[in-house]
Amino acid sequence: MSLLKEPDLGTPAMEGPATVSLEVDGLSVCVPEGTSVMRAAAIAGVDVPKLCATDRLEAFGSCRLCLVEIDGRRGTPASCTTPVADGMVVRTQSPKVAKLRESVMELYISDHPLDCLTCSANGDCELQDMAGAVGLRQVRYGYEGENHLDAVKDQSNPYFDFDPSKCIACSRCVRACDEIQGTFALTIEGRGFASKVSPGAGESFMDSECVSCGACVQACPTATLQERSVIQLGMPSRSVITTCAYCGVGCSFKAELRGDELVRMVPHKDGGANEGHSCVKGRFAFGYATHPDRVLRPMVREKITDPWREVDWDEAIDTVARRMLDIRRRYGAEAIGAITSSRCTNEEVYVVQKMVRAAFGSNNVDTCARVCHSPTGYGLKQTFGESAGTQDFRSVAQADVIVVIGANPTDGHPVFASRMKQRLRQGAKLIVVDPRRIDLVRSPHIEADHHLQLRPGTNVAVVNAMAHVVVTEGLVDESFVVARCEEFDQWAEFISRAENSPEVVEPITGIPAAELRAAARLYAQAPNGAIYYGLGVTEHSQGSTMVMGMANLAMACGNIGRDGVGVNPLRGQNNVQGSCDMGSFPHELPGYRHVSDDAVRRTFENLWGTALLPDPGLRIPNMFDAAIDGTFRGLFVHGEDIAQSDPNVQHVLAALGAMELVVVQDLFINETAKFAHVFLPGASFLEKDGTFTNAERRINRVRAVMKPKNGMHEWDIVCQIATAMGYPMHYDHPGQIMDEIASLTPTFAGVSFARLDEVGSIQWPCDDDAPQGTPIMHIDTFTRGLGRFVPTPFVPTDERSTRRFPLILTTGRILSQYNVGAQTRRTANIAWHQEDLLEIHPHDAEDRGIADGDEVTLASRVGQTKLHARISDRMPTGVVYTTFHYPVTGANVVTTENSDWATNCPEYKVTAVQVALAHPVVREQEAHALNGVLAAELVD
Ligand code: SF4
Ligand code: SF4
Ligand code: SF4
Ligand code: FES
Repeated sequence: MSLLKEPDLGTPAMEGPATVSLEVDGLSVCVPEGTSVMRAAAIAGVDVPKLCATDRLEAFGSCRLCLVEIDGRRGTPASCTTPVADGMVVRTQSPKVAKLRESVMELYISDHPLDCLTCSANGDCELQDMAGAVGLRQVRYGYEGENHLDAVKDQSNPYFDFDPSKCIACSRCVRACDEIQGTFALTIEGRGFASKVSPGAGESFMDSECVSCGACVQACPTATLQERSVIQLGMPSRSVITTCAYCGVGCSFKAELRGDELVRMVPHKDGGANEGHSCVKGRFAFGYATHPDRVLRPMVREKITDPWREVDWDEAIDTVARRMLDIRRRYGAEAIGAITSSRCTNEEVYVVQKMVRAAFGSNNVDTCARVCHSPTGYGLKQTFGESAGTQDFRSVAQADVIVVIGANPTDGHPVFASRMKQRLRQGAKLIVVDPRRIDLVRSPHIEADHHLQLRPGTNVAVVNAMAHVVVTEGLVDESFVVARCEEFDQWAEFISRAENSPEVVEPITGIPAAELRAAARLYAQAPNGAIYYGLGVTEHSQGSTMVMGMANLAMACGNIGRDGVGVNPLRGQNNVQGSCDMGSFPHELPGYRHVSDDAVRRTFENLWGTALLPDPGLRIPNMFDAAIDGTFRGLFVHGEDIAQSDPNVQHVLAALGAMELVVVQDLFINETAKFAHVFLPGASFLEKDGTFTNAERRINRVRAVMKPKNGMHEWDIVCQIATAMGYPMHYDHPGQIMDEIASLTPTFAGVSFARLDEVGSIQWPCDDDAPQGTPIMHIDTFTRGLGRFVPTPFVPTDERSTRRFPLILTTGRILSQYNVGAQTRRTANIAWHQEDLLEIHPHDAEDRGIADGDEVTLASRVGQTKLHARISDRMPTGVVYTTFHYPVTGANVVTTENSDWATNCPEYKVTAVQVALAHPVVREQEAHALNGVLAAELVD
């Protein structure tokens, strides 16, 4: 349980030691230089009335409610905009300021509806609070004059209303949109009495640039901007701190409830990853948890052609255990396995891999991270010695040059994107490496210094060419390399070869050599250069090579081991980092330790009381191949829709159809569940108790906001299956699972629920050497001792455009939707994205006679699908793009079985395709252009 209203000190904190002493209403206080008088007063325990100020935003000084008197100064300065000075004596409560404040408040109230008792913000309205604080007893001005009381509401946004009749023009919403979110969607139109808040150029919120992050709603001190859920359900009365279950940013939220009903999600100010901000998904898109499509009772069937039969939990668990044991008896332990989910908690993932290794008796456990960030684990381990990103998000505020490679943070990792944009607006330089002109390339007050618009599949050639410039132009950080790294000389010899020069690779990458050279120099010469990357790096046949290439580049420039630098994967799902940490790879036990390491295995064997296999098990693609061959027959799929999310869907479906037993645990009947024999209803994140680990290695608590609607905790279901198979697994509470993880995993040694509850979150490694956790890694030494340079020759992918498939398809996601869309499609977020579209360059569209909105076929050598075209010059010619949020589109019907050489991560980002009109017709205007009779016949 946490406070509903968090303290607000009025203006942001200043960095640095507290060196300025002053007196406020007779109380002494010492604060850092630059602190406002308002904040100093709040620290001293004196609340100065305020309306336009909040400690999330820079002081603005418009409402004039916070006036104070300062000895030796004339007038009554605004305390929010007045910085402290040594020896200052401040009086916040003189009769003079009291009178002034009352007059200001009187003016506000004279143009404000007096419906406090029925207002949705009653009890959470700062205007109401301040009227009380200034002791307002009367309003001398009537309502007869000009006012805003009849201003029309804007209810266009599905999640919040804008009622301008209640607006006090404090501009907090406008500043929140600018300073925190960085979208600049709002303005104050007009002057004086006529001034009013306006989304865009007088548009509705839905028609404007607004991305529905909700920062303005949170900032609004009145009911002007209000969550629709609060209007409908009433003000919440209690809150629980938990973690968003969407992307790998890992935003912390206060889930605010009224009774047992979740009213709203408010980003938590103390959340280490988000510091009080959120995106539309985390703040608003939680309705799927109570969607009627949810399956709440277990179901079984003998064959997938039979109808489902609802059963109780005992029968469901017994069925899974009995049928898994039966397969094991007939075909051996290698015939059964499981896939863990990056959407589940660390504790749930841990028990699934334990069940597989200890109860199933195989190492056939893999995770959906296989298909996204497995190259990150491999590449960073090889070079730095640890399979994780190097920095915390806060570090971006110190970066001078930011390189974004194969990531689209404003859509995929929106809250981190806002932090990054804050730094860019302060003047940091930006290099974007992406075939598509993502929003970051040019958005309000931001323009990339270089957009390296490479051909898909040529990442490694680009990073090698950048490193070539660094080495051959004498830009290497020699002292860093000599002191901290090994195998530099052989790498330098390789990278200096002419084959890696920007000029030689220009025809391959499509990037002008001069531009690439300039970008490389910019990164290398920056005091702090930071690399952030996403699936546009990993989901390639050379995904692991590219991760190592970026690590080489960072080491060569000394950009590792301090604030503002690093190599940072932006993880897709909420717990990708955690699911990998928890040992869900077939070759690794928790903490990335190889199953062949006898000493490590013995530690687990001693605690688990069973022998473990020293040989790696099957990866997901191997499981599918083995299923088709008939040697893999039983699969437990935990919270993953492999039939929609994995590549070459026909192959996946053939594998699922070939198995004797498919067990699916999920919230909804998904595409995979159509092949399942047992369906185990899962719990939403609002019903879970455990932890998620975000992209910064930050372990956050997930706390149950409500009881599991399916009647059982997911970790307990898994334990009961293992027990029914003859391997007893029992925990009273998920905190005990974390204790076991900590006892077996050195990097988690200092982690426990009690500690997390005390400090909020911990970034691993957390052990005796780093009891507070590790925000920045590899500070004095790399985890592996010396950072290792690894030569990274560019090998073109086998997937090439041909005459038959002349375009390259690449994929990505959109802000309002999440992965296969199972959650977000069941929320009002569909208002922004009702279908997956195919983005195509105008020239490619024209060549094919395609107009915007036409239905087109998208075909590759493995399959074809249909979707509507969006003509967009964000794409270069020769490249098309789509999202994969809707099963009906089935983007993965066309993606191929090509994969990363080291990890088998699928090459989602490069598929040779052809695009054609689905229903070729001769359009009317074309018909007119053709000669008469023939044209008329064609149109008919
Ligand atoms: S919801 Fe976010 S993007 Fe939209 S206007 Fe408010 S702050 Fe700006
Ligand atoms: S909408 Fe709210 S935050 Fe924006 S100016 Fe009006 S009262 Fe202030
Ligand atoms: S940025 Fe990611 S973690 Fe944060 S609210 Fe949005 S989806 Fe959730
Ligand atoms: S709070 Fe200081 S002027 Fe508004």
